[in-house]
Amino acid sequence: MISINDVSISFGEQSVLENVSFDIHDEEIIMVVGQSGCGKSVLMKIIAGLLPPDQGYVTINGKNLMQSSKDEAIQIRQKLAMLFQGSALLDSLNVYQNVALPLFEHTRLSDQEIEEQVKEKLAKVGLSDILLKMPSELSGGMRKRVAFARAIITSPRYIIYDEPTTGLDPVLASEITALISNLHSTQSTATVIVTHDLYCIEKISGRIVMLADKNIIFDGSYEKFKNASDKRIQRFLYSTER
Ligand SMILES: Nc1ncnc2c1ncn2[C@@H]1O[C@H](COP(=O)(O)OP(=O)(O)OP(=O)(O)O)[C@@H](O)[C@H]1O
Ligand SMILES: [Mg+2]
Repeated sequence: MISINDVSISFGEQSVLENVSFDIHDEEIIMVVGQSGCGKSVLMKIIAGLLPPDQGYVTINGKNLMQSSKDEAIQIRQKLAMLFQGSALLDSLNVYQNVALPLFEHTRLSDQEIEEQVKEKLAKVGLSDILLKMPSELSGGMRKRVAFARAIITSPRYIIYDEPTTGLDPVLASEITALISNLHSTQSTATVIVTHDLYCIEKISGRIVMLADKNIIFDGSYEKFKNASDKRIQRFLYSTER
């Protein structure tokens, strides 16, 4: 279980999150929604231990990443993968090296085993014959899919996807949504998806957590979310400028 406890953070004068608490249970699938700029990516980076909060703390299986020894932190990190908004591939490495990186870092697999895994994961996202290409030679959608393959390559227990379908054409977006859903149900990966994509929200139909005004304003089922009367939720559901 991941536990977010009373987390607050500001940047200079701007307070972004205040006293946010919620739990992510094992095998759960959660959609995090909210207006652009409300702090979704910041919250995900705090959960992944990449950004220390000003107040509060996060525990993963009872352990606080910020207070762990280096070895412990590496062990905890292996259980959690994150797909960053904007892909974040390493520009100086080719596709093969990017996708294989977590395996080189965290496992002792042979080169051949690593190559098989990389090819298998790339095939899952509909990419082949691009192992030697550099990120700069790929389209935005291809970069996103390569980053997706990298995020799932270690079969993590927890996975955070920050806008996994943004910028993809509708066919690809629905394929990635199906992949996420499939990965969640076949491998019981606890999954957090930050998204503005109503198709993805409806298709997956998991627990919804909505951020607004520096805190969680909704936490419940998609059914309840759709029927909620809160104006901020209505605006999110029915405005075209999410
Ligand atoms: N490193 C940083 N330094 C200063 N301000 C930051 C930093 N990271 C985020 N912010 C600010 O925090 C706020 C929340 O940003 P965040 O990226 O979490 O938004 P978001 O909800 O993910 O939006 P979007 O839907 O557009 O991705 C924004 O006002 C942003 O400018
Ligand atoms: Mg964001």
